[in-house]
Amino acid sequence: MKPSPEEAGPKADSRMETLHDIPALRSRLAGWRAAGLRIALVPTMGNLHEGHIALVQTALAGADRVVATVFVNPLQFGPGEDLDSYPRTLAEDARQLQAVGCQLLFAPAEATMYPQGRAGHTQVEVPGLSAELCGASRPGHFRGVTTVVAKLFNLVQPDLAVFGQKDYQQLLLIRRMALDLNMDIEIVGLPTVREADGLAMSSRNAYLTAAERARAPVLFRTLTAVAAAVAAGTSPEQAERDAAQALRTAGFEPDYVSVRRRVDLALPGPADSALVVLAAAHLGRARLIDNLELDRPLPVQG
Ligand code: PAJ
Repeated sequence: MKPSPEEAGPKADSRMETLHDIPALRSRLAGWRAAGLRIALVPTMGNLHEGHIALVQTALAGADRVVATVFVNPLQFGPGEDLDSYPRTLAEDARQLQAVGCQLLFAPAEATMYPQGRAGHTQVEVPGLSAELCGASRPGHFRGVTTVVAKLFNLVQPDLAVFGQKDYQQLLLIRRMALDLNMDIEIVGLPTVREADGLAMSSRNAYLTAAERARAPVLFRTLTAVAAAVAAGTSPEQAERDAAQALRTAGFEPDYVSVRRRVDLALPGPADSALVVLAAAHLGRARLIDNLELDRPLPVQG
């Protein structure tokens, strides 16, 4: 006899539920929590690709139930950015999530998340780091990110939440926010999923023309060159200048190429060996970001 979903174990439910409203979400979660199930959260803005799906798979491996969210968060887009043109593909996203075994998709409307309107809403900001790198090019961006992620953490109250290292600065800020605000959530960061030619998967890659797409892997190749140069003893400043020049030559307009300490994204001192190089650059209509961790050998102390 075929086991019922309950008998077959906590992950045997085959239908994914899509919810748009907070009361329905809370009541589904309350049932799971009462049953002692471990809950994971994977926040996204949709238009899902293999990078997002890898996060969901990791969440499924670490929890009994996975809530994926799809919400194109207006608070993290600046004026003149791509809020209106950001790809919205909810039916296809739901199909992919269902296929991989996700149990719940929460896809709220803007008014559900921001009933006070965009300007009237309480916001959450991590000081310092949120104004650097991508925060310098996109003022207010990270305040929008930490605000919506704080709300999703409060709504779902997950045991763990999974994010990509592709958005390295975002991941660090979310870890800081959770620590500072005593949110008892395990934050898991996953390596970047790439196309065969090295380009980091991103919803924004769709903005590239065929000619731009052919040049786009230069971004990751340039980061690889920076990592190799710094590991071989080139100063970070020199490697950053060479990289910005290489990007310009390939038709990119770099926002920044910066070598930082992995632990807090501060500028590295001579004693820092655990580093990461981060870059953001415009290519045609797309603003692409990427990063690569590197270890710099330190001079042997005599
Ligand atoms: P989005 O760009 O949709 O990304 C959702 C999650 O997928 C993030 O944690 C991001 O780092 C991860 N991700 C994106 N591309 C990836 C790749 N190639 N490999 C691995 N992981 C990848 O990041 C956001 O949305 C938003 O800022 C959000 C956190 C949802 C808040 O609105």
